[in-house]
Amino acid sequence: MRILILGASGFVGSALHARFAENHEVVGTSRGGHGLVPVDLADTGAVRELVAQRFDLVVHTAGVVDLGAAQRDPAAAYAANVAPMVPLLDAIGETGAKLVYLSTDNVFDGTADHYDENATRAPINVYGETKVAAEDLVLAHDHHLVVRLPLVYGRSPLSNKFLARFASREIPARTDIVCNPLHLPSLAPILEELTDESGVVHIAGAETLSRYELMTRVRDHLAAPARIVPTDRLTAAQDCPRPLRLVMRSIRHTLTGPDVDTALADLR
Ligand SMILES: NC(=O)c1ccc[n+]([C@@H]2O[C@H](COP(=O)([O-])OP(=O)(O)OC[C@H]3O[C@@H](n4cnc5c(N)ncnc54)[C@H](OP(=O)(O)O)[C@@H]3O)[C@@H](O)[C@H]2O)c1
Repeated sequence: MRILILGASGFVGSALHARFAENHEVVGTSRGGHGLVPVDLADTGAVRELVAQRFDLVVHTAGVVDLGAAQRDPAAAYAANVAPMVPLLDAIGETGAKLVYLSTDNVFDGTADHYDENATRAPINVYGETKVAAEDLVLAHDHHLVVRLPLVYGRSPLSNKFLARFASREIPARTDIVCNPLHLPSLAPILEELTDESGVVHIAGAETLSRYELMTRVRDHLAAPARIVPTDRLTAAQDCPRPLRLVMRSIRHTLTGPDVDTALADLR
């Protein structure tokens, strides 16, 4: 397959780029650097020109992902996450390629025991709102795929944003935010199994745990000196409303990422 990865310098995008390049012809973009094709999604002409190079699959991982940043500057978050979607979908529509759009568990409000693909979306922060808006644009086309992910953790080829935290002396981590985090290396193989699907699929890890528990187990495994500081909704920085319980399940497939101990064996 010929695959285009938008956002191939990022945490998730660079891992997908590396893995897919083992078996496919892959082109990756960023806004500059890393030897990737330089494309800003706001440049509709450049996006159209790139997409016209005929790909079977376009995997869209680019945009504003920092919840606090999106909450502080909604206009910038919408400009990055929603505005480029219509021209991108138009350009893809002219080629017959399939779009795989990465979305998030933050489309849910965190009040239910768990969420499957049919659950009602009700975002409580700007980041989640932008992802709902983008999902709607993608889902207006029958053959594209929205993939909702939980917190993703692990090592990534070009972005050290998860592991870099363990160099800090103290890492605040919420005891009251729970999800089933996904180990990054498990995403590409699962995605490869699901690329014929359309609509919405959830991909998540096998274990449900709090942010505090995840960070503590990773810290212990790495033997990092960082102190994991327990926080909750009363003591944490109030940068953004955050859903508390985001347990994602799938009614469309049985694939999951590994439990945390299995994932950690790979992480030192
Ligand atoms: N990380 C997670 O835990 C997580 C959880 C759930 C869902 N997701 C979803 O997974 C996707 C990737 O997340 P991530 O954590 O890998 O994000 P990331 O590390 O911040 O990477 C984002 C990528 O987007 C690119 N980008 C940002 N604005 C752009 C623009 N205007 N034009 C072109 N490229 C732009 C960045 O490239 P440059 O800066 O190099 O230009 C970078 O490659 C997102 O859709 C996110 O919603 C992530």
